[in-house]
Amino acid sequence: MIKNVVEVEHVQKIYGKKNESQSVALKDISFTMKEGEFIGIMGPSGSGKTTLLNVLSTLDRPTGGTVRIAGTDLTQMKNNELADFRAETLGFIFQDFNLLENLTLYENIALPLSLQNVKPVKIRERVEVVSKQLGIHDILTKYPAEVSGGQKQRTAAARALVHEPAIILGDEPTGALDSKNATSLLETMTELNAKQNVSILMVTHDPQSASYCERILFIQDGELYKELKRDEADREHFYKQILDVLATFGTQKA
Ligand SMILES: Nc1ncnc2c1ncn2[C@@H]1O[C@H](COP(=O)(O)OP(=O)(O)OP(=O)(O)O)[C@@H](O)[C@H]1O
Ligand SMILES: [Mg+2]
Repeated sequence: MIKNVVEVEHVQKIYGKKNESQSVALKDISFTMKEGEFIGIMGPSGSGKTTLLNVLSTLDRPTGGTVRIAGTDLTQMKNNELADFRAETLGFIFQDFNLLENLTLYENIALPLSLQNVKPVKIRERVEVVSKQLGIHDILTKYPAEVSGGQKQRTAAARALVHEPAIILGDEPTGALDSKNATSLLETMTELNAKQNVSILMVTHDPQSASYCERILFIQDGELYKELKRDEADREHFYKQILDVLATFGTQKA
């Protein structure tokens, strides 16, 4: 049976205390994500994409509604429980890689496991597996400054995968890459998703990147504006459909 990896119900996020000037970042968002889905989040600047990702990442708490990830209700958890949950259940890929410059690629990839006190033998095993998958197995002793942008991003992807998270979350994961490296990362993500059923949710401005997803959620003014499914469409056709939706932003409500 296919499980839901994410269940977002009527999530609201208002910044600022009562009596102060308040900013409504998320009005009322609901959606579910099935295990093994590859979802993109798109929307204009200020529409609430990063806020939504932060709420899913447990880095921020919603002011209303519930968020369940892998069956766990995040809104019921204490801060220290959230930190453990984040370390065990989530993987992250950021735009700026977030690699530690003083650690080798191996040590960077191993970090999520080292922090959880996993045995060294098991760590070595997992780092081997993911670094082979991502084609960076022969450069593991190098430091981030000694490798290319694409290799850094594949290292960040390996680190996101090493502890076998329930879901990988990305905020503009291809944002700092040239088009060749961006394509290579997106192909890798597609392969991980297709062959290993890794659930991936990423925020992106870029319709080309979004065209690799199976489903896109468009948000505007903190609300779900439209949803697009790729179904059997090829990537080029899906890309055109995405452009069509982006063109309607600000001009009409779906
Ligand atoms: N910490 C904060 N305090 C107050 N308001 C905030 C805060 N963070 C975000 N906002 C507001 O919430 C709204 C949504 O912001 P968010 O960062 O989620 O947008 P975004 O869709 O990620 O935009 P971008 O594409 O520019 O990254 C904006 O109006 C923003 O000004
Ligand atoms: Mg943002």
